[in-house]
Amino acid sequence: MDVKLVERVKDIGRLKSVSALLDWDQETYMPAGGVAARAEQYALIETLAHQKLVSEETRTLLERAEGTVDADDFVAETIVRETRRSYDRAAKLPAELVREIAHTSSLAKDAWAKARAESRFADLSPWLTKLIDLKKQVAERIGYAAEPYDALMDEFEPGATAANVDPVFRELREKTVPLLNRVMTARPGPDPAILDRHYPRDRQEKICRRMAEAIGFDFHSGREDVSVHPFCMTIGGPGDVRITTRYLKNFLPAALFGTLHECGHALYEQGLPKEHVFTPMAEAASLGIHESQSRMWENLVGRSRAFWKYHYAHVESLFPEALRDESLDSFHGAINAVRPSFIRVEADELTYNLHIILRFELERAMIRGDLRVGDIPAAWNEKFTRMFGITPENDAQGCLQDIHWSMGAFGYFPTYTLGNLYAAQFFAQARQDIHGLDDRIAANDHAALLGWLRERIHRHGKRFRPGELVQRVTAKPLSIEAFVGYITKKVEAIYSI
Ligand code: CO
Repeated sequence: MDVKLVERVKDIGRLKSVSALLDWDQETYMPAGGVAARAEQYALIETLAHQKLVSEETRTLLERAEGTVDADDFVAETIVRETRRSYDRAAKLPAELVREIAHTSSLAKDAWAKARAESRFADLSPWLTKLIDLKKQVAERIGYAAEPYDALMDEFEPGATAANVDPVFRELREKTVPLLNRVMTARPGPDPAILDRHYPRDRQEKICRRMAEAIGFDFHSGREDVSVHPFCMTIGGPGDVRITTRYLKNFLPAALFGTLHECGHALYEQGLPKEHVFTPMAEAASLGIHESQSRMWENLVGRSRAFWKYHYAHVESLFPEALRDESLDSFHGAINAVRPSFIRVEADELTYNLHIILRFELERAMIRGDLRVGDIPAAWNEKFTRMFGITPENDAQGCLQDIHWSMGAFGYFPTYTLGNLYAAQFFAQARQDIHGLDDRIAANDHAALLGWLRERIHRHGKRFRPGELVQRVTAKPLSIEAFVGYITKKVEAIYSI
């Protein structure tokens, strides 16, 4: 393997990690007065990284390496393949187009925040029209097999196309809607309002820390801070992975499940091979696979009865007033209550995917040119009503709720549902492979599951594409089967249906 190429790839990775540190600091501790200077620092580092990537020297080193890579050397193969991919994506886009997208989306994000606050879609629509046009230009330059949307989705989920995601999502929708209807007729069911009582923040911090340690988050190679929007960010490879949490004193799930979710992301990052830090071998396979790790710990583990069998006593002792008349059963029911709601980020495990399917169908139509920007609110409300049986009262509750489109991130949403499906399929396999998995979870022993994930998924970095990884780990291609089986069983038990 060409040492020069590896060093160059690592330098690009190092520069990217510096901009991640700038970003992390801005989201956590930077005083407001630092904004302007920080934007300049950030732009400089990003430019340096970009220039290093698309330079003549990288191209020459890459071409030379491509001719000499040993087929058995998977490290070299992965580094060369993924560097080629990044190089092509970057080199195919003219600097002027990249600059215009960055500029437009930063203004559009601002317009979105105001439009959402006043629920005025018309204020965002000129920006969306512009961004869709710019992203179509990106797709044309990058190239695609069937439709421009594929080129955009491929950035987040390599190998995924609209044509292969669409039937999976359709099938999922066909299974979800009847189950949701059964839940609705079986009401009342558990009472999620018990989670809206008073939960003092300092005590929430205690339980969150305890859960993070229990599932294996390594505080020697990571830290936890507070931010408005929770996230996980890797600063220095597997040895420095940072998460944030948001504490709401009248809504316990935000911190509990936010922490488990971000820890799930962090466990993946901490489990990537350290010896390959700053190269694609020490990067996640895709956003969908990343989300499978966060959703597995948040939902498959963190919302299971087994998990709370162990942790409920501690929660009860921390919040004796809020949970005075509650029990493990009522708590477990509350954290798993199913109900149609307008806001994606607050949705339960069953309805969550419907929110994603709706967005996927709309954004695919936008990029195809089948849906005009001015028609988005009506199309949203019509689809939403059909899927959920309720209609948003305004666009803030509907098509204006998410930041993604105003950032030009078309093709991102599907990775959330792909993550849920991968998570369930991986977990079903883990259950087959690990003897007594539920008993271990109930005994607060998560080492076997984490070890399994490290061995099967984490240590491979970007070696395998998502589709290939799923096939290797579970011996079958991605399907909705595991997720549907899991969610049906859970919902039927909780609602006695
Ligand atoms: Co996530």
